[in-house]
Order: sequence, then C-alpha cells, then structure tokens
Amino acid sequence: MAMVPIPSLFSLSFSLRHFFVLSLAFNVTLILRLMLFHQTQPFAVTNSNTRLLISSSPPSNRVINLDHGDPRVYERFWRQTGDKSTIVIPGWQFMSYFSDGSNICWFLEAEFAREVVRLHKVVGNAVTEGRHIVVGTGSSQLFLAALYALSPNDAPQPISVVCASPYYSSYPSMTDHLKSGLYKWAGDAESFDKEGPYIELVTSPNNPDGHVRRSKVNKSQGFLVHDLAYYWPQYTPISAPADHDLTLFTVSKSTGHAGMRIGWALVKDEEVAKKMTKFIELNTIGVSKDSQVRAAKVLRAVSDSREQGNSKDSESFFKFSHKLMASRWKQLRLVVDRSGLFSLPKFSPAFCTFFNQVLEPQPAFVWLKCEGNVVDCESFLRGHNILTRSGIHFGVSPKYVRISMLDTDDNFNQFLDRLSAIQSR
Ligand SMILES: Cc1ncc(COP(=O)(O)O)c(C=O)c1O
Repeated sequence: MAMVPIPSLFSLSFSLRHFFVLSLAFNVTLILRLMLFHQTQPFAVTNSNTRLLISSSPPSNRVINLDHGDPRVYERFWRQTGDKSTIVIPGWQFMSYFSDGSNICWFLEAEFAREVVRLHKVVGNAVTEGRHIVVGTGSSQLFLAALYALSPNDAPQPISVVCASPYYSSYPSMTDHLKSGLYKWAGDAESFDKEGPYIELVTSPNNPDGHVRRSKVNKSQGFLVHDLAYYWPQYTPISAPADHDLTLFTVSKSTGHAGMRIGWALVKDEEVAKKMTKFIELNTIGVSKDSQVRAAKVLRAVSDSREQGNSKDSESFFKFSHKLMASRWKQLRLVVDRSGLFSLPKFSPAFCTFFNQVLEPQPAFVWLKCEGNVVDCESFLRGHNILTRSGIHFGVSPKYVRISMLDTDDNFNQFLDRLSAIQSR
C-alpha cells in the first residue's frame, strides 16, 4: 500500500501563511482589475434583442479585425451537435487517389455528392437534375477551374473576365496572379464594351454589398459563372432554385466550415465539367477525401436538422443561423441609424420559399459608407482600431468599406461598442 506523507506542523503552517498571502494578492489584483474594467468599458444596457451603448470613456485598444469573412459565427451551433457532425477515419481508409473512375469527376466521393443533391432539394436553392457535380478545394479552386474550362484555347488573345463593381476583391488577383495567356481580368462589367467572347462573374447575393444580382453585360458571346456562395436562407430570401450553366457553392459560407476547404460546382455542359476536372487533376490530383467525407457528414446534419425541425435535441441550422444574423443586423442598424457618420445599403424584403414568409436580406458583410467629410473610410476606422477592407479593393470609392458580420460574438460586440463610441464623440 502506498504511504501518504503527513506534512509536519512547520510545513503546514508555512503553506497556510503562503496560501493566505497569495489569496490576498489575488483578491487585490481582482479588485483592481474590476475597478479598471469599470473605468474603461463603455456602459452597456442589454435587453433580449438590443444593446444600448452609452460611452463614458475611450474604448479599449484591442484591434478588431473584420477584414476577412472568417465564418466563426456558427461555431456555437456546431459545438452542440456532437456526434451528428463528427467523423472518425481509420488509418487504412481513403488511401487511393480515386473515388469513382466511371464518373467525369473521378475524385468525387459519392457520399458527398448525395448530400449536396439532398441539401439543395431541402433548401430549394439550386436545380441539380441534369448537372455534373465537380468538387473543389474550396470554391476558389473551382473558380480557377471554371476560367480554364471556359477559355477558348486557340484564341489570339486572353478572354476578358468581368464582374460588375463592387465585385469580390479576390476576383481580379485570382484571375491575373499567374498571368495566364488564356484569360485576363477586364474590370467592371457595366463599362465592358469589347466585342467577342468574355466571361462574366455573377455573385448573388453579392460580396461585398449583399444585393441580389443578374448578369450585366448584354452581349451574345458571354459565358456566365454564377458564384452563389451566399445564396443560403440565413443571408437572403430564397426566391427559386438557381438554374444556371455553371454555379459555384462552398461550405465556407453555407455551414461555416471554411477550414474544410470544400466547394462544389453544378455544371450543365459535360465538356466544361471534364475540363474543370482536368484542371483540378493537374492542380492537386483531386480533392481531399477526408474533407469530402467530413463535408458530407456536416451537410447531412444540416438537412437532418431541417427535416427534424426544432425538436428538443435538434435545432435547425438555418433557423439558428437566420436568427443569429437577424439579431446582429438589428443591433448594427440601431447603432448606424443613431450615427450621422455612416450609412448602410437599403434592401427590399422578399418572399423566402424556405421559411415561407417575407424576409429581409441580412448579408454576411456590412457594406458601410462613411458619410460627410471622411474620404478614406478604412483609415478612419483603423484609427479606431477596427480593421476593414476598403472600397478600392472592390473597384469603387474609398468612402466604402466591407466589414465581416461572421466573426465571433466577442469581436462583433466589441465592434458595435467601438462604432457607438465613435459617433458619441
Ligand atoms: C463570393 C465568394 N466566392 C468564393 C469565396 C471563396 O470560398 P472558398 O472558401 O470556398 O474558397 C468567397 C470567400 O469569401 C466569396 O466571398
């Protein structure tokens, strides 16, 4: 039997004294921290939906980075799903490069494809019949695969790639990064007037401004790529199943699993699907099966959560995410409406076939305009320790900035506090 040493009287009294001194020191720092906290924090009155902020002193100096659209906002939902969204992969599984040699997209996992089709049916946001599914390492890889597949390979000049401004800031750099001889960024679709073939990117709802979009160039030789990363019920009313030639989706913004790096394309034309597959083959020899299987489980959990409704142990993902975005937009509007410094885009409510009611859009980004004398809104907000992305990266004026609405609760609340503090000076 193991002997438990009995402390001597001396060591016992030493440790008691030690403990007393330590606990006194701890309490004093705690009291000091609390005092400092009350001196520096703006006073926040909170009720269930609104936060009224009365700034009594300068905001804290922590930098709030809302430049990227990192979708941390959904973590809370996925934490509570447990086994429903967890996978275990034994060491021997998914060792082959191949998934299904008979499929055009030979590295597409059947389980993932099934869940993509099911989710589109459940949500009603895209037609999948008569479409080839091409999986990609994020929709970013599929975007490049689409440019490759749609570019004529015998043209004397690179095909023009256009998108109406404000456009997703990565499109120009992704298009021109490798100085391809096949395609070239040609800027704003509204002012595009070149004859001949072109590729138009249609992002709907749009990143950065959240508006629903249609193609803008009205010419005959255009290929359209519809980037529907945000065509999900938490961001915009679902009006009808999208029925385009080439449509891109991603788990990054639908379920919030950006780190999984999984996107998918719905492609009507077999030859285009083959060329996109070839691009991915040359680029990364397929797409991680581990990620596809994980994505399948996550998509299944979303579809199941819709079909099981809001039962005690299953909350609908889209109800959760819609409520969360609605609450954030409501709080933001309150703060912006009270300010004379900023303005937001105006959206029209529309009928949502998914929720069966008329709803307002609540985009993943705020497209904020600095009113009045502020010319460079990004610098202005940086001066208040809020990092945003300037309108110039989206092809428009620096009076605009894009701000992520998808960050953690803590960062979002800090952001609102900062914005309130600016206007009250
Ligand atoms: C419109 C749009 N398309 C594509 C992407 C990239 O998605 P993924 O993470 O799947 O590469 C983003 C990411 O912000 C986006 O906003």
